[in-house]
Amino acid sequence: MSNEMTALEEITEEGLGIGGGIGAKIETPVIVLNEKAYAESKGEKGFELAEICEEVADETGANIAICPQQAELALIASVVNIPCFAQHVDAVEPGSHTGFTTLESVKDAGAAGSLVNHSEHRLKIADIEYIIKKAASLDLLTIVCTNNIAVSRAVAELKPYAIAVEPPELIGTGQAVSKVDPGIVENTVKEVKEVDAESIVLCGAGVTNGEDVRAAIALGADGVLLASGVVKAVDPKAVLLDLVSGLR
Ligand code: G3P
Repeated sequence: MSNEMTALEEITEEGLGIGGGIGAKIETPVIVLNEKAYAESKGEKGFELAEICEEVADETGANIAICPQQAELALIASVVNIPCFAQHVDAVEPGSHTGFTTLESVKDAGAAGSLVNHSEHRLKIADIEYIIKKAASLDLLTIVCTNNIAVSRAVAELKPYAIAVEPPELIGTGQAVSKVDPGIVENTVKEVKEVDAESIVLCGAGVTNGEDVRAAIALGADGVLLASGVVKAVDPKAVLLDLVSGLR
């Protein structure tokens, strides 16, 4: 056996997937930033956003998690000490599948878990159940996205780690769900916690400032899931600091 480091080990001193994400639970209230596939969050820019999230979390004590672009998940999870989530996983076992992402690879990448069923990447209910169960067996967290109260309640029956209710029509609009449609947040919290008191409930779509976050928390949400308000901001750190102010 040679003492030489493997190519993976050379990328970081200790190897891939050794960041803060591994096996981490998310503390609440929490802000979860989804980098999506925006040009403003790819490559180096995605790293910068992750570092800004880490900085703001360190400086303020706020709980912040990030969903890097899939191509950078392992590298970002290796360098930041906040929980990292995949944006999507597929309901497949390791094997002969092309272009799919397994839960096993997400775990090795150092992620704390994965978003599931985002409205921009919907899954069949049977696949959602498969992913929730398999993720739990691998000690990975699932944040399952839903589009309304009834679907949130149905998904709660599957016992995911967290549910994020996001009305699709508000995504990317800057019109916060917590302001424009407070009923969906309040009633999702009520219905989900009735099914599973332990489940974390987030809300998202259009969240851009501290007021939106404050409104979400006042409605009973455990945090927010957001993207464009930070990813496309001229000064993402200032926006994050404002968002964090709404957690208190
Ligand atoms: O995953 C977060 C999301 O769909 C909300 O997007 O841009 O409205 O914050 P945005």
